Amino acid sequence: MADRTHTPNYWDYLGLDRLLALQGGLEGDDEALMPDELHFIVTHQAFELWFKLVIRELRLARDHLSAELVDEQHIPHVVHHLRRVSTILRHLVTQFEVMETLTPQDFLAFRDKLVPASGFQSFQMRVIEVLLGMDLATRPRYGKVDPVEHIRDLAKKSPSSAVALGQLERAMAETTLRKAMQQWLFRTPIRGSSPGDPGDADTVASFVDDYLANVAAVHARQAAQMPAALGVDPDAVAARFAGMTAQARAFMHADEIEDAGERARVRRIRAALVFIESYRTLPLLAWPRLLLDTIVETEEQLVLFRTRHARMVERVIGRRIGTGGSSGVDYLDQTTGVRVFHDLWTVRTLLLPRRELPALDQADYYAFAGKGSPA
Ligand code: HEM
Repeated sequence: MADRTHTPNYWDYLGLDRLLALQGGLEGDDEALMPDELHFIVTHQAFELWFKLVIRELRLARDHLSAELVDEQHIPHVVHHLRRVSTILRHLVTQFEVMETLTPQDFLAFRDKLVPASGFQSFQMRVIEVLLGMDLATRPRYGKVDPVEHIRDLAKKSPSSAVALGQLERAMAETTLRKAMQQWLFRTPIRGSSPGDPGDADTVASFVDDYLANVAAVHARQAAQMPAALGVDPDAVAARFAGMTAQARAFMHADEIEDAGERARVRRIRAALVFIESYRTLPLLAWPRLLLDTIVETEEQLVLFRTRHARMVERVIGRRIGTGGSSGVDYLDQTTGVRVFHDLWTVRTLLLPRRELPALDQADYYAFAGKGSPA
């Protein structure tokens, strides 16, 4: 605790005495560290401090988005907190340059001390993944190592691991950003109609039908133009475009979902996504589309973080096995394919040029003078 009997000073406020006493590594003594080990520890700690802030900001964004009525007052707050997250992640991507000043041989001098410790055990990174909405059970793993089970095993052996497990389990019991986003999208008015309004299901279905009809028409036209322009086989091109049309249809109808109730819910969510992205210039859709852009931006920065980390690792340890026992760079490269907000990425494949969009009869509803908020 800071000494409250004195006027606050800079180091008390920041707890600098304690913070700067935490870089002694396993020996608990800065002086006993190998050359370059202080660099390794400080760099990791700096990342973990930023992770702490990312976690706080994600929770704040999620709380605003989970509000019963997410109106224009809430959405700017969600965007504000998520922008901070993506800015931090962008900053961390460049921070790997500092780590890279460690030469392979300098790292080899102390690397064996770490085994089997590894960034794989960064429970704050797992908390970030969980709060975003990643299903940890389906993410890439190496061997049989499940990240949560791994931390559970460690928690049986050491008190510090129990703290890690506690933080992870707390996050796993919370609403995720993905779920909050889906609930908000579900409530979004489509062609002026909200869930619970008379005929809402028919209004949504007619929007989806009109949209898919235009997708099919655009694909058919492109399939007819492309062979002549590129000198390729017309049948092969027609088959590819027909495949894309079928994929768009399957996505919009949520065909992959067996349960009828859940399928209807996801259909409405996807229709709302396409609706906001398509008519994004309407005044009342300005904040919703900014929110979707910010979520995509955040996930993009996380993917870039993983990619940059993998390249840095390749430069420092080549293709050798990681201290945590994974295949190293191969494993890290697999994680760059992970996505949390699949639908936000998928929808990009089926967006139409503005001139090809179905006409929007209820445009007034989405003007500032309209009868209500879009969500
Ligand atoms: C010389 C520096 C570094 C090397 C050689 C390295 C290497 C590795 C390797 C090989 C893995 C895969 C797991 C394993 O087998 O150990 C890993 C995972 C990880 N590392 Fe690093 N790393 C370095 C620096 C950093 C830094 C500065 C951070 C920042 C916090 C970091 C964060 C992570 C995270 C979060 C994972 C888990 C990735 C996942 O499972 O999705 N690493 N690291």
